[in-house]
Amino acid sequence: MYANWASDPEVTRFLTWQPHPNVDATKSLLSDWIQRYEDGGYFNWVMELKETGKAIGNISVVKLKENTETADMGYCMSRAYWGKGLMPEALRAVMDFLFDVVGVNRVAACHDVNNPKSGRVMDKAGMKQEGILRVAGRNNLGICDEVWHAMIRSDRKN
Ligand SMILES: CC(C)(COP(=O)(O)OP(=O)(O)OC[C@H]1O[C@@H](n2cnc3c(N)ncnc32)[C@H](O)[C@@H]1OP(=O)(O)O)[C@@H](O)C(=O)NCCC(=O)NCCS
Repeated sequence: MYANWASDPEVTRFLTWQPHPNVDATKSLLSDWIQRYEDGGYFNWVMELKETGKAIGNISVVKLKENTETADMGYCMSRAYWGKGLMPEALRAVMDFLFDVVGVNRVAACHDVNNPKSGRVMDKAGMKQEGILRVAGRNNLGICDEVWHAMIRSDRKN
């Protein structure tokens, strides 16, 4: 994780966390994540390349809103594997799990208006764009407009 994406400032450009300064920062984060698995409402996956088992990215539920049965998603991946449709594949698989196994009613995600490639992931996974929240987010580049996308349970039947 450290070598493949968490230390890369190009990967974290539009994210809310800074590139990890050393491998110990990654190890410490991973032990925190592993502990949180004790809580049945925590969902966080590593993406492995099928052929080699190499860890190339991460997709997670960044917020589970129980009162509306909504999961908000976040994801990032090693630059070496961008442009192969891998994150849309992962997002589709995770959405199936969240609807079918966890039982959520809505899966949503947002991206900085200046990071349209993340919006392409949402489109390709079958989410619909819903709207733009102006100056509603903050990432490593400062305050930004957020483009929201979602799939709701009834979209899947159509
Ligand atoms: C966003 C991200 C997950 C996309 O994953 P991916 O598996 O490359 O997704 P895709 O292969 O479907 O490509 C999505 C878009 O990225 C762009 N893209 C493709 N290859 C690229 C490359 N080598 N370099 C830059 N952008 C590229 C294209 O616009 C593509 O859309 P298209 O298929 O309509 O041409 C990945 O770029 C990433 O990890 N970015 C950094 C973290 C991030 O921004 N996360 C989202 C925060 S909201």
